[in-house]
Amino acid sequence: MSDKPVVLVTRKLPAAVEERLQRDYDARLNGSDRIYRSDELIELAKGADAIVPCHTEKLNADVIARLPDSIRAITSFSVGFDHIDLPAAKARGIIVTNTPEVLSDATAEIAMLLLLGAARRAYEGEQQIRSDSWSDWSATYQLGLQVSGKRLGIVGMGRVGQIMARRARGFDMQIHYYNRSRLPPDLELGARYHNAVESLLPHCDFLSIHCPATPETRHLLNAERIALLPDDAVVVNTARGAVVDDDALIAALRSGKLFAAGLDVFNDEPRIHPGYRELKNTFLLPHIGSATRETRDAMGFRALDNLDAIMAGREPRDRLV
Ligand code: DGY
Repeated sequence: MSDKPVVLVTRKLPAAVEERLQRDYDARLNGSDRIYRSDELIELAKGADAIVPCHTEKLNADVIARLPDSIRAITSFSVGFDHIDLPAAKARGIIVTNTPEVLSDATAEIAMLLLLGAARRAYEGEQQIRSDSWSDWSATYQLGLQVSGKRLGIVGMGRVGQIMARRARGFDMQIHYYNRSRLPPDLELGARYHNAVESLLPHCDFLSIHCPATPETRHLLNAERIALLPDDAVVVNTARGAVVDDDALIAALRSGKLFAAGLDVFNDEPRIHPGYRELKNTFLLPHIGSATRETRDAMGFRALDNLDAIMAGREPRDRLV
C-alpha cells in the first residue's frame, strides 16, 4: 500500500497535470471524463484525503455534509467557486482553494473574441460561408458595429476585467467600470469609475461582465438594467451565466433593443436557454474562456501547488476557507 495521500480527481485533466498527480499522490483519476453523480462522487471519495473538482461538480451543502471524514481539502481546478458551498466546507473543517490569476489572459482573450464577433456579426458570416449561401459582396450587406473608439463598460474590475480593459485600449476604447471598490490610479489607468451598475450602464456601447456569481450578482443584468443600456449596445459575458437573466436578455436581443450578445457562459450549462440558438445576433461559445493548453496546465499546477501545501501542513496560496 502507498503512503502517499489519496486524491480523487473528478474530471480528466491535462496530461502533464495527471503525471504530476500520479507521481506525488495516490491519484484516483477519471479516464472516461464522465461527470460523476453526487452519490458516486461521495462513494469514490471514501478514504481519500482530498478532492480536485472542476466547476462541473456541484459541491453543495448536502454533498459536502455527506463527504467522508477523511476529506481534508477541496482544491478546485477553477477560479470560480460558485459550485462549492464554502460555509458548509468551513463548518466541516475542509480547506477549499481555487486557481486565480492563471486564467485571466485566456478569459480576456475570449471576451475580446466575443465582443468583436458579436459586433461584426461573425456567426452570420460563418454560416453563409459554411452553408454556401454567400451570394456576393455588397456595400450594404452584413453591416456590423465598429468597435474602435467606442465605450466599453466593465462590471467587475478584478484581474480579468483589468486585462480586458488593457486589450480594449488597443482598440482605442474608452473604459468605464463598476466594481465594489474603486481601483488605485495605477490600475485604473484613466478608466472612469461608477459606484453603481445603474450609473455605468448608460455609458456602455459595449458591456463586458467579469464579476463572480454570488447571491448578490444573480441576475444582475435583468430587464430593468438592460433598459438603461444605450440602444444597440452589445453584451458580453465570460463570467457566469447566473449573472444574467436569460429571458430578459433574449427579449432585448429579439426586440432589437440590443444589437448583439457574445456569450461563453450560461445558466444550466450545457442545456442552455434555447432562445439563444434561435437568434442570429448571438455569438455563442461553450464555456472555453480558460481553454488554452497553457492555461489549463497552469490551472492544474496551481491546484496541485495548493494541494501540496495543504498536505504538507502549510498554508495554501489560494485559500478560500
Ligand atoms: C473557472 O475556472 O471558473 C472557469 O470557468 C472554468 O471552470
